[in-house]
Amino acid sequence: MRQKIVAGNWKMNNDKQETKTLIEDVKTEIENLSLENTRVIVAPSFVNLESAVNLAEGSSIEVVAQNMHQAKSGAYTGEISADMLKSIGIKSVILGHSERRTYFGETDELLAEKVNAVLENDLETIFCFGELLEDRKSDNHFNVVESQLKNALFHLEAKDWSSIVLAYEPVWAIGTGETASPEQAQEMHAFIRSIVEKQYNKEVADNVSILYGGSVKPANAEEIFSKPDVDGGLIGGAALKASDFSAIIKAI
Ligand code: PGA
Repeated sequence: MRQKIVAGNWKMNNDKQETKTLIEDVKTEIENLSLENTRVIVAPSFVNLESAVNLAEGSSIEVVAQNMHQAKSGAYTGEISADMLKSIGIKSVILGHSERRTYFGETDELLAEKVNAVLENDLETIFCFGELLEDRKSDNHFNVVESQLKNALFHLEAKDWSSIVLAYEPVWAIGTGETASPEQAQEMHAFIRSIVEKQYNKEVADNVSILYGGSVKPANAEEIFSKPDVDGGLIGGAALKASDFSAIIKAI
Protein backbone atom coordinates (compact mmCIF):
# COMPACT_ATOMS: atom_id res chain seq x y z
CA MET A 1 0.00 0.00 0.00
CA ARG A 2 1.35 3.40 -0.91
CA GLN A 3 2.25 5.81 1.86
CA LYS A 4 0.89 9.23 2.60
CA ILE A 5 3.57 11.89 2.88
CA VAL A 6 3.69 15.49 4.01
CA ALA A 7 7.09 16.98 3.19
CA GLY A 8 8.28 20.49 4.02
CA ASN A 9 10.79 21.96 1.59
CA TRP A 10 12.45 24.76 3.53
CA LYS A 11 14.43 26.01 0.53
CA MET A 12 17.00 28.71 1.47
CA ASN A 13 15.35 29.57 4.77
CA ASN A 14 16.15 29.11 8.48
CA ASP A 15 19.52 29.56 10.15
CA LYS A 16 20.81 27.24 12.86
CA GLN A 17 18.62 28.60 15.65
CA GLU A 18 15.53 28.84 13.45
CA THR A 19 16.07 25.25 12.34
CA LYS A 20 16.18 24.13 15.97
CA THR A 21 13.07 26.09 16.91
CA LEU A 22 11.04 24.90 13.93
CA ILE A 23 11.94 21.22 14.36
CA GLU A 24 11.18 21.37 18.08
CA ASP A 25 7.87 23.13 17.48
CA VAL A 26 6.79 20.64 14.79
CA LYS A 27 7.79 17.78 17.09
CA THR A 28 5.58 19.17 19.84
CA GLU A 29 2.67 19.79 17.47
CA ILE A 30 2.65 16.24 16.10
CA GLU A 31 3.76 14.16 19.08
CA ASN A 32 0.25 12.96 19.90
CA LEU A 33 -0.91 12.31 16.35
CA SER A 34 -1.32 8.77 15.16
CA LEU A 35 0.60 8.79 11.90
CA GLU A 36 -0.20 5.35 10.61
CA ASN A 37 1.14 4.89 7.08
CA THR A 38 1.97 8.60 7.01
CA ARG A 39 5.44 10.11 6.74
CA VAL A 40 6.37 13.57 7.93
CA ILE A 41 9.45 14.96 6.21
CA VAL A 42 11.43 18.19 6.43
CA ALA A 43 14.19 19.36 4.09
CA PRO A 44 16.39 21.99 5.78
CA SER A 45 19.45 23.61 4.17
CA PHE A 46 22.65 21.58 3.86
CA VAL A 47 24.45 23.44 6.67
CA ASN A 48 21.72 22.57 9.15
CA LEU A 49 21.05 19.02 7.99
CA GLU A 50 23.11 17.23 10.60
CA SER A 51 21.74 19.22 13.51
CA ALA A 52 18.23 18.65 12.11
CA VAL A 53 18.86 14.90 12.00
CA ASN A 54 19.96 14.98 15.64
CA LEU A 55 17.02 17.14 16.71
CA ALA A 56 14.52 14.89 14.93
CA GLU A 57 15.89 11.70 16.40
CA GLY A 58 13.27 9.69 18.27
CA SER A 59 10.40 11.63 16.67
CA SER A 60 8.27 10.91 13.60
CA ILE A 61 10.07 13.57 11.59
CA GLU A 62 12.36 12.42 8.77
CA VAL A 63 15.05 14.79 7.55
CA VAL A 64 15.93 14.81 3.84
CA ALA A 65 18.23 16.85 1.58
CA GLN A 66 17.10 19.39 -1.02
CA ASN A 67 19.58 18.31 -3.68
CA MET A 68 22.60 16.10 -4.34
CA HIS A 69 25.43 15.93 -6.88
CA GLN A 70 25.58 12.90 -9.17
CA ALA A 71 29.33 12.23 -8.84
CA LYS A 72 30.83 10.15 -6.07
CA SER A 73 33.43 12.79 -5.10
CA GLY A 74 35.93 15.13 -6.69
CA ALA A 75 36.48 18.62 -8.01
CA TYR A 76 32.92 19.95 -7.87
CA THR A 77 33.23 23.09 -5.77
CA GLY A 78 30.20 23.79 -3.64
CA GLU A 79 28.52 20.43 -4.24
CA ILE A 80 27.36 17.65 -1.90
CA SER A 81 27.70 13.90 -2.55
CA ALA A 82 25.58 10.91 -1.62
CA ASP A 83 28.32 9.63 0.69
CA MET A 84 28.35 12.91 2.61
CA LEU A 85 24.60 12.77 3.06
CA LYS A 86 24.63 9.13 4.10
CA SER A 87 27.40 9.79 6.61
CA ILE A 88 25.05 12.07 8.60
CA GLY A 89 22.06 9.74 8.38
CA ILE A 90 20.19 11.13 5.37
CA LYS A 91 18.16 8.55 3.45
CA SER A 92 16.21 10.62 0.96
CA VAL A 93 16.83 13.54 -1.40
CA ILE A 94 14.58 15.97 -3.23
CA LEU A 95 15.57 16.19 -6.91
CA GLY A 96 14.38 18.22 -9.86
CA HIS A 97 12.66 21.01 -7.99
CA SER A 98 11.54 23.68 -10.46
CA GLU A 99 13.82 26.22 -8.76
CA ARG A 100 16.80 23.94 -9.49
CA ARG A 101 15.61 23.59 -13.07
CA THR A 102 14.97 27.32 -13.55
CA TYR A 103 17.82 28.98 -11.63
CA PHE A 104 20.51 26.30 -11.85
CA GLY A 105 19.85 24.88 -15.29
CA GLU A 106 19.03 21.33 -14.22
CA THR A 107 17.70 19.34 -17.15
CA ASP A 108 15.86 16.03 -17.32
CA GLU A 109 19.07 14.44 -18.63
CA LEU A 110 21.11 15.67 -15.66
CA LEU A 111 18.30 14.60 -13.32
CA ALA A 112 18.39 11.09 -14.81
CA GLU A 113 22.05 10.93 -13.73
CA LYS A 114 21.19 12.21 -10.26
CA VAL A 115 18.40 9.65 -9.94
CA ASN A 116 20.87 6.91 -10.91
CA ALA A 117 23.27 8.13 -8.21
CA VAL A 118 20.46 8.09 -5.66
CA LEU A 119 19.63 4.48 -6.49
CA GLU A 120 23.27 3.34 -6.59
CA ASN A 121 23.57 4.68 -3.07
CA ASP A 122 20.41 3.03 -1.75
CA LEU A 123 18.80 6.37 -1.17
CA GLU A 124 15.26 7.47 -2.02
CA THR A 125 14.29 10.47 -4.11
CA ILE A 126 11.32 12.79 -3.97
CA PHE A 127 11.35 13.66 -7.63
CA CYS A 128 9.74 16.97 -8.65
CA PHE A 129 8.34 17.90 -12.02
CA GLY A 130 5.48 19.96 -13.45
CA GLU A 131 4.48 22.26 -16.26
CA LEU A 132 4.87 26.01 -16.74
CA LEU A 133 1.86 28.31 -17.00
CA GLU A 134 2.37 28.63 -20.76
CA ASP A 135 2.25 24.83 -21.10
CA ARG A 136 -1.07 24.70 -19.30
CA LYS A 137 -2.47 27.64 -21.26
CA SER A 138 -1.55 25.92 -24.51
CA ASP A 139 -3.03 22.66 -23.26
CA ASN A 140 0.37 21.01 -23.43
CA HIS A 141 0.67 20.14 -19.72
CA PHE A 142 0.13 16.39 -20.09
CA ASN A 143 2.80 16.17 -22.80
CA VAL A 144 5.29 18.17 -20.73
CA VAL A 145 4.78 16.03 -17.64
CA GLU A 146 4.98 12.82 -19.65
CA SER A 147 8.26 13.86 -21.26
CA GLN A 148 9.77 14.92 -17.91
CA LEU A 149 9.01 11.48 -16.48
CA LYS A 150 10.15 9.67 -19.61
CA ASN A 151 13.46 11.51 -19.80
CA ALA A 152 14.38 11.41 -16.13
CA LEU A 153 12.78 8.23 -14.75
CA PHE A 154 11.49 5.79 -17.31
CA HIS A 155 14.90 4.22 -17.89
CA LEU A 156 14.58 2.71 -14.39
CA GLU A 157 13.53 -0.85 -13.73
CA ALA A 158 10.27 -1.66 -11.96
CA LYS A 159 12.12 -2.69 -8.81
CA ASP A 160 13.74 0.76 -8.54
CA TRP A 161 10.36 2.39 -8.03
CA SER A 162 10.25 1.45 -4.35
CA SER A 163 12.81 4.28 -3.96
CA ILE A 164 10.85 6.87 -5.92
CA VAL A 165 8.30 9.37 -4.61
CA LEU A 166 6.78 11.65 -7.24
CA ALA A 167 5.98 15.30 -6.55
CA TYR A 168 3.84 16.99 -9.17
CA GLU A 169 4.38 20.72 -8.84
CA PRO A 170 2.82 22.93 -11.48
CA VAL A 171 5.36 25.76 -11.68
CA TRP A 172 2.61 28.39 -11.90
CA ALA A 173 1.40 27.35 -8.44
CA ILE A 174 4.75 27.36 -6.60
CA GLY A 175 5.08 30.24 -4.18
CA THR A 176 2.43 32.20 -6.05
CA GLY A 177 -0.51 31.63 -3.74
CA GLU A 178 -2.26 30.13 -6.73
CA THR A 179 -3.15 26.46 -6.32
CA ALA A 180 -4.24 23.88 -8.82
CA SER A 181 -7.85 23.07 -8.04
CA PRO A 182 -8.33 19.69 -6.36
CA GLU A 183 -9.87 18.54 -9.66
CA GLN A 184 -6.85 19.70 -11.68
CA ALA A 185 -4.51 17.96 -9.22
CA GLN A 186 -6.53 14.74 -9.33
CA GLU A 187 -6.72 14.83 -13.13
CA MET A 188 -2.93 15.16 -13.44
CA HIS A 189 -2.15 12.63 -10.70
CA ALA A 190 -4.43 10.05 -12.32
CA PHE A 191 -2.70 10.72 -15.64
CA ILE A 192 0.73 10.28 -14.01
CA ARG A 193 -0.34 7.01 -12.43
CA SER A 194 -1.70 5.81 -15.76
CA ILE A 195 1.56 6.46 -17.62
CA VAL A 196 3.57 4.77 -14.87
CA GLU A 197 1.26 1.77 -15.22
CA LYS A 198 1.67 1.79 -19.00
CA GLN A 199 5.47 1.93 -18.71
CA TYR A 200 5.73 -0.61 -15.87
CA ASN A 201 2.72 -2.34 -14.37
CA LYS A 202 -0.25 -1.81 -12.07
CA GLU A 203 1.66 -2.75 -8.95
CA VAL A 204 4.31 -0.06 -9.50
CA ALA A 205 1.63 2.51 -10.33
CA ASP A 206 -0.51 1.63 -7.29
CA ASN A 207 2.42 1.75 -4.91
CA VAL A 208 4.09 4.99 -5.91
CA SER A 209 3.18 7.98 -3.75
CA ILE A 210 2.35 11.05 -5.80
CA LEU A 211 2.54 14.32 -3.86
CA TYR A 212 1.03 17.59 -4.96
CA GLY A 213 3.09 20.78 -4.49
CA GLY A 214 2.21 24.38 -5.11
CA SER A 215 0.77 26.70 -2.47
CA VAL A 216 -0.67 23.99 -0.25
CA LYS A 217 -1.84 25.63 2.98
CA PRO A 218 -4.02 24.72 5.94
CA ALA A 219 -7.08 26.17 4.19
CA ASN A 220 -6.84 24.02 1.06
CA ALA A 221 -4.90 20.93 2.19
CA GLU A 222 -7.84 18.77 3.23
CA GLU A 223 -9.67 19.17 -0.06
CA ILE A 224 -6.57 18.49 -2.16
CA PHE A 225 -5.59 15.48 -0.04
CA SER A 226 -9.09 14.04 -0.29
CA LYS A 227 -8.54 13.23 -3.95
CA PRO A 228 -7.85 9.52 -4.51
CA ASP A 229 -4.59 9.91 -6.45
CA VAL A 230 -3.13 12.65 -4.25
CA ASP A 231 -1.00 10.96 -1.61
CA GLY A 232 0.22 14.05 0.18
CA GLY A 233 2.04 17.29 -0.41
CA LEU A 234 5.39 18.96 -0.89
CA ILE A 235 5.00 22.17 1.03
CA GLY A 236 7.14 25.30 0.67
CA GLY A 237 6.03 28.52 2.38
CA ALA A 238 3.54 26.90 4.76
CA ALA A 239 6.23 24.49 6.02
CA LEU A 240 8.10 27.38 7.62
CA LYS A 241 5.50 27.88 10.35
CA ALA A 242 5.03 24.96 12.74
CA SER A 243 1.31 25.63 13.25
CA ASP A 244 0.61 25.74 9.49
CA PHE A 245 2.76 22.70 8.73
CA SER A 246 1.16 20.67 11.47
CA ALA A 247 -2.32 21.74 10.36
CA ILE A 248 -1.45 20.36 6.92
CA ILE A 249 -0.23 17.12 8.52
CA LYS A 250 -3.50 16.89 10.44
CA ALA A 251 -5.39 17.43 7.18
CA ILE A 252 -3.94 14.24 5.78
P1 PGA B 1 5.00 26.56 -2.03
O1 PGA B 1 6.26 25.74 -2.55
O2 PGA B 1 4.23 25.67 -1.12
O3 PGA B 1 5.59 27.75 -1.31
O4 PGA B 1 4.22 26.94 -3.23
C1 PGA B 1 6.12 24.39 -2.92
C2 PGA B 1 7.45 23.86 -3.36
O5 PGA B 1 8.21 24.62 -3.99
O6 PGA B 1 7.77 22.69 -3.10
